[in-house]
Amino acid sequence: MLAAMKPTALDIIREEHQALAAMLRSLVLLLAQARRESRLPDFNVLRAMLFYVDEFPEALHHPKESELLFPRLRERCPELAPVMARLDDDHRKGEREVRALQHALLAFELLGEPRRAAFERAAEGYVAAYLEHMAIEEREILPAARRVLGADDCQALDTAFAANRDPLTGHAAEAEFAPLFQRILLAAPAPIGLGPPG
Ligand SMILES: [Fe+2]
Ligand SMILES: [Fe+2]
Repeated sequence: MLAAMKPTALDIIREEHQALAAMLRSLVLLLAQARRESRLPDFNVLRAMLFYVDEFPEALHHPKESELLFPRLRERCPELAPVMARLDDDHRKGEREVRALQHALLAFELLGEPRRAAFERAAEGYVAAYLEHMAIEEREILPAARRVLGADDCQALDTAFAANRDPLTGHAAEAEFAPLFQRILLAAPAPIGLGPPG
């Protein structure tokens, strides 16, 4: 009975948050490490990280929340509508914000030192806002979903999530992103990733 109240769909959202949070925190750590050692960061790794953060949530994560979970939860918890409106708004703005950050990274890479501080500031602001977004979902949305969604809802949500993984629906499959995630992990220097110390 308890197991039925803990749908896999909600666990998948949490797992994706953890992977994204690890990527975002690593990005900030890499920048701090490069500054401490008075050298330029590994731009290949940073570019791959931002590409991943740009592509993965847009293709896989946000649609699960905005299209599948939120509409169900809105029916059961109308009092959470303003929170979900704010989160939907973040989802809509996400692509524009990460593109701006990618541009700031390119400026740092091509113009060098004079653009380092601007990119660091932009990256820290972006990461803080993203982590806060996920924290709100973990604090207010997921517990409410576990509380109010019945077994039927959970079943329907799991089925919808399974369909959402199908590339035929227009959403990319996890398998598409897994090799990129692994490559970033291998390229990022220890202790962040698995590569040689930076
Ligand atoms: Fe979200
Ligand atoms: Fe999320």
